[in-house]
Amino acid sequence: MENETHCCEKRHLATTLVRGTSLFEARTGAVSTPIYQSAAFRHPGLNQSTGFDYSRAANPTRTELEKTIALAEGGKYGLAFSTGMGAISAIIKIYKPGDHFILSEDIYGGTYRLFTEYYEKYGFAFSWVDTSIPGSIEKSLRKETKAIFVETPSNPMMKVTDIAATAEMIHRQGGDLIVDNTFLSPWFQNPLKFGADMVIHSGTKYLAGHNDTLAGFIIHSRDDLEEPLRQAQMSEGASLSPFDSWLTLRGLKTLPLRMERHEKNSARIAEWLRNHKRIEKVFYTGFEDHPQYQISKKQSRGSNGMISFYLKDPSDVPVLLKSVSLILFAESLGGVESLLTYPLVQTHGAIPEQMRLSSGVNEKLMRLSVGLEDADDLIDDLDTALEACAAAGKKL
Ligand SMILES: Cc1ncc(COP(=O)(O)O)c(C=O)c1O
Repeated sequence: MENETHCCEKRHLATTLVRGTSLFEARTGAVSTPIYQSAAFRHPGLNQSTGFDYSRAANPTRTELEKTIALAEGGKYGLAFSTGMGAISAIIKIYKPGDHFILSEDIYGGTYRLFTEYYEKYGFAFSWVDTSIPGSIEKSLRKETKAIFVETPSNPMMKVTDIAATAEMIHRQGGDLIVDNTFLSPWFQNPLKFGADMVIHSGTKYLAGHNDTLAGFIIHSRDDLEEPLRQAQMSEGASLSPFDSWLTLRGLKTLPLRMERHEKNSARIAEWLRNHKRIEKVFYTGFEDHPQYQISKKQSRGSNGMISFYLKDPSDVPVLLKSVSLILFAESLGGVESLLTYPLVQTHGAIPEQMRLSSGVNEKLMRLSVGLEDADDLIDDLDTALEACAAAGKKL
């Protein structure tokens, strides 16, 4: 598959990401989209508008970003939020109490917390299933199931769900497929092309890409959803600020280069980890023996910088976290700096023990977001830290 020609009729995806939709600012010729740091916009007259009235509803910097991300995902509409969670929360507002959702059980812990701790009490019902196993979703479908929400690849176990098959299943009963595409970014995967109704992103990750801003997105092509989603964005007020919109626009310009490098670095490191004696198992979508490798190849154009792995000895965990020096023990992913996370207590701490364990998030699991440093330096850092584990822990 090509990441070249899908994004718009005339331009290639890499061009759209660098130049956006406006190419330059019409009024001044500014090459970089200006930051319109204004809360309000003057009305030319009564009942007249420039298209911008108040920045919670629309802001020119954010509008350029929204149009660019929509094109990049192959969608008609894009909405930018202050965080990924803001985007997911806005989606729930288009459904009604009594509606039932099916979600990937291996999911970002914050998404789980949002649905269960905040929306369950308003009458929404949820089923958590391993959506990567064919047949598992059908068993949980109810007549009131209105949406399926999947992360693919999933966070942190890297399970891959067949987007086209899942879309077909939920469309048969008139529901929607929502895909969290944070882990691959539009450079490597476009779920709308495979039948998803809405794509969401934590733009904080690969899209902005520099571990310096928070952002979230919804991208879709459905005219019937645009009004309610826009209303939710405007009414709840979690819209992205002008400066963060600009930072994200700047991040998008280098997305292809960064994703290619993330992929190259992580392929080397995943292989190296797999051969290390203190590592029990490596979860990486780029391995040809990944259980859903063929599905990945069908719907994605590459793999990201995400690697999860089990240590053989869980007592290595604190030593490893303390001993890495180039790689930072921190809780995010998709940025230029490599970060190591302990999902059990960090990203997935909100998920109940039984569900966590059944999806594979246990005391031995580490998640590595491989950044853009030289892969040799990252391997040296891991090697030194694992040597420290060997010195401090059991002989393996
Ligand atoms: C896959 C995934 N989706 C959504 C989110 C939430 O995004 P944000 O932190 O930007 O609110 C995260 C955060 O880590 C994530 O990993």
